[in-house]
Amino acid sequence: MTLESSHPSLYGAVTILVCLLFLNGWLKKPRDPRQPKQVPATIPIPFFGHIIGLLIWRNHYYTKVSQQWNLPIISLAIFGAKVYVSRSPELLYSVQRQPKSLSFWYFEAHFTALLGGLSKAGSDGCFRGVRPESIDDCPLIDCLKGVKAAVSSQGDLERMSQVALDTLHKGVHRFMQEKSGPIDLEAWIKREIMLATTDAVYGARNPFRDPAIVEGFWNFTDGALFVALPRILPRILAPKAVAGREAVFRAIEQYYESDGLQDASQLARARYSILTQSGMSVQDTARAECVFGIALNGNTAPTAFWVVWHIFSDAVVLARIRKELEKFVSTELNGKQGVQTLTLDLRGVKENQYLQSVIQETLRYRARGTGPRMVLEDVTLSGDDCEYLLEKDSTLILAHEGMHYNKAVWGTDAESFVSDRFLPGDKAPPTAFRGFGGGANLCPGKSFAMSEIASLVAMLVTQADMEAVGGWNEPGRDASNMARENPPPLRKVMVNVAPRVGMEDVVWKYVL
Ligand code: HEM
Repeated sequence: MTLESSHPSLYGAVTILVCLLFLNGWLKKPRDPRQPKQVPATIPIPFFGHIIGLLIWRNHYYTKVSQQWNLPIISLAIFGAKVYVSRSPELLYSVQRQPKSLSFWYFEAHFTALLGGLSKAGSDGCFRGVRPESIDDCPLIDCLKGVKAAVSSQGDLERMSQVALDTLHKGVHRFMQEKSGPIDLEAWIKREIMLATTDAVYGARNPFRDPAIVEGFWNFTDGALFVALPRILPRILAPKAVAGREAVFRAIEQYYESDGLQDASQLARARYSILTQSGMSVQDTARAECVFGIALNGNTAPTAFWVVWHIFSDAVVLARIRKELEKFVSTELNGKQGVQTLTLDLRGVKENQYLQSVIQETLRYRARGTGPRMVLEDVTLSGDDCEYLLEKDSTLILAHEGMHYNKAVWGTDAESFVSDRFLPGDKAPPTAFRGFGGGANLCPGKSFAMSEIASLVAMLVTQADMEAVGGWNEPGRDASNMARENPPPLRKVMVNVAPRVGMEDVVWKYVL
């Protein structure tokens, strides 16, 4: 006979007593003075204030609330859970020294399992070795090492960049021939960048060459937060996103089964072999690859869009970029027809400090993402003359926009776009720029993405004159998807494109 069945009221009284004792102990627990200050919500509504703030402003809420308190780190209590928010580059050295205790990989494992819809065994595989005390191999970290090696200059970076360049060149050629009226600039860049990136990664049998798979992928990505909900909820709340994921998953599975990896990059082959050799089934590997697509495709296209927008919307920046690129152009006259061929050396372009500065400033100015870290054990963070204790099982949010708009770090113009901010000279501390994250979690795709964006920009500024319909007005940011580092524009930017005046008959060649 159980306590409950023997006497329900006794059972109730004991439960209440235990709860009261627990609550009493919890309330009396002395608060360590090194804990970050717990701050109230910007909207003063008890219990729900922070959640409402996040629903309204999304990641921008972290910037708002941390600017309001102007401390290196603060703590938000959200339904009993602690969420620390930092916009201090000074504390980042400490954060980056403890990647296993302040774990990005924990979230990566969680989201790969949930978003991908992995089996129980596949999910367990994602979490293996993630905890700081674990001595097991960690397939997730091994995979990251494989990706880093593949996309390095000793690996496949040069070949991947060449494939991406060839695909982009064809896309720009079609763009220049476009006669059917204004083009949606963001949609065009998104399509071409995704094609170029996935051609570079998956090779001749790239499953993302199918427009239906691309559409499914974006449905999945845009509904990702709903797909991460438990059990039946994703199918009820986000059926399009779930259907999109399943279509992408099946296409990748089929790609694996039909030997698509044979002519793929080292990156795709490394991920497949590391995950399957760790014991993951081919099905779960295809599901994990579908989620990896978010890192692969989610940020390069919006970044490229904003870089193009900042260049073409400012005549001074455009003229300066064109002048900088002239240094890398060589001319040759084709004998018979007298056609001029101009060759642009993209190796020089990619190293050009002004173009690099424009891209980095775009990443700084447009960042809305966060670096989430799960606190897997009690951790101390120290800065110049401060020390903080972060408690196990809480979450740390590195608020990228908050860091990038920190006037104490970047100066009074922190909230403006300054194209030459990143030229060599007096600089903000290296940790202050979070465009590609940092430390052990520094984005492994950084060099490839920078090269791809530089190639696209070089082709457009050398060949095209572009006018936005109604003028280059700020289109705003669609920050609804909190998983994105750089949100896409809120309003469409429609452009008319034409060959540059005086260069209509020139043939352009691009070499890497
Ligand atoms: C402009 C384009 C891109 C931007 C802005 C970007 C940005 C980022 C950021 C902010 C992080 C988080 C780092 C942290 O929290 O410390 C990250 C991580 C990551 N990125 Fe990128 N990324 C881009 C392109 C790519 C590409 C093309 C790939 C694939 C080749 C890629 C693969 C990854 C991976 C695998 C991680 C997780 C790293 C880890 O496990 O520690 N990213 N990226």
